[in-house]
Amino acid sequence: MIPNFMKKKLQFILYIKLIFFFILVTNPQKLFADEIFQKGREIFLEQGTCASCHSLSDAVSQANIGPNLDEIRPDLNRIVLAVTNGIGVMPAFEGMLSTEEINAVSHYVYKATE
Ligand code: HEC
Repeated sequence: MIPNFMKKKLQFILYIKLIFFFILVTNPQKLFADEIFQKGREIFLEQGTCASCHSLSDAVSQANIGPNLDEIRPDLNRIVLAVTNGIGVMPAFEGMLSTEEINAVSHYVYKATE
């Protein structure tokens, strides 16, 4: 016979496992997307040099050459277009960043200002 307190403990462990399993099954994109978010954040601060021109609170950047991204809250397409082709004073990043990097940094800006 399993003593009662052990049963409770086992039940508790089972609940925790179920919760994790549920999160994994219902939300795989989210786990995956967060990785892209982190990668995009790095690009924003480093290779992309976005932080040298744009303010974005998530990236703790303060620069006023370009518009404040928290304020304009651009949609995803608009970001991809601006980063790929450039706009006004902002340089085009096509060729400087890979398509994958452009997508990651755009995803990041979109999610950080959503
Ligand atoms: C040399 C400074 C500079 C850098 C570097 C820069 N930007 Fe910009 N960005 C600007 C300026 C200036 C504008 C406004 C252009 C205009 O509307 O004439 C702008 C506009 C934008 C817009 C709005 C586009 C629109 O449709 O209005 C987004 C989004 C954006 N930048 C994101 C980024 C991201 C992401 C990066 C990094 C990959 C980046 N910028 C790097 C200067 C910069």
